[in-house]
Amino acid sequence: MQIRSLTPEDASAFQALRLRGLQECPMAFASSFEEEFATPIVEIERRLLPKPEAAIFGAFEDQTLLALVGIRREGMVKLAHKAFVWGMYVAPEARGRGVGAELLKYALAYAGTTLRVRQVNLGVNTRNTAAVALYRKLGFTEFGLEREFLQVNGDLHDEYQMVCRVSSPA
Ligand SMILES: CC(C)(COP(=O)(O)OP(=O)(O)OC[C@H]1O[C@@H](n2cnc3c(N)ncnc32)[C@H](O)[C@@H]1OP(=O)(O)O)[C@@H](O)C(=O)NCCC(=O)NCCS
Repeated sequence: MQIRSLTPEDASAFQALRLRGLQECPMAFASSFEEEFATPIVEIERRLLPKPEAAIFGAFEDQTLLALVGIRREGMVKLAHKAFVWGMYVAPEARGRGVGAELLKYALAYAGTTLRVRQVNLGVNTRNTAAVALYRKLGFTEFGLEREFLQVNGDLHDEYQMVCRVSSPA
């Protein structure tokens, strides 16, 4: 497995996997297939341009993109010691063999060494036992619970807010 940050050349593969995730797991993401499927490829390419404050990482096997995770440092000066993770998704055929854990470890290392933040936050549906277990395994702990965070087809879902402390190199 190869993990690297995605570039504009990965736009089509990124969009295909992202839309697959939004369709497969509407309860796992705040965004939705309906809101993203018509995004022009040039806009995706723009989002994948290298930036100092953010990256989208992918895990590949035999050149095939199998997993995604995004991370972004907060924009406001007083919040810039923090980053947040979004869009964690592993294709069903690649699950259960450590891909998600390796990808998230990579993003956390980037948070410490490149973004140089002190903590990484994320939100996760409380019913998503696999994702909650993954995040706990990598050092995230719950610090909040938002009731009725998400509404999908009339069904309301709660969200854990989780944080992971990261250390920057001296
Ligand atoms: C959650 C998800 C990212 C896990 O990816 P993965 O590559 O299968 O996870 P890994 O194989 O790296 O597993 C790492 C740890 O996660 C936990 N985990 C993964 N799948 C699990 C499952 N089905 N049930 C319980 N725990 C699970 C375990 O703690 C596991 O460690 P272990 O193998 O030592 O027990 C993947 O299932 C996924 O993409 N789900 C759909 C999208 C989603 O829910 N995204 C999260 C949005 S917040």
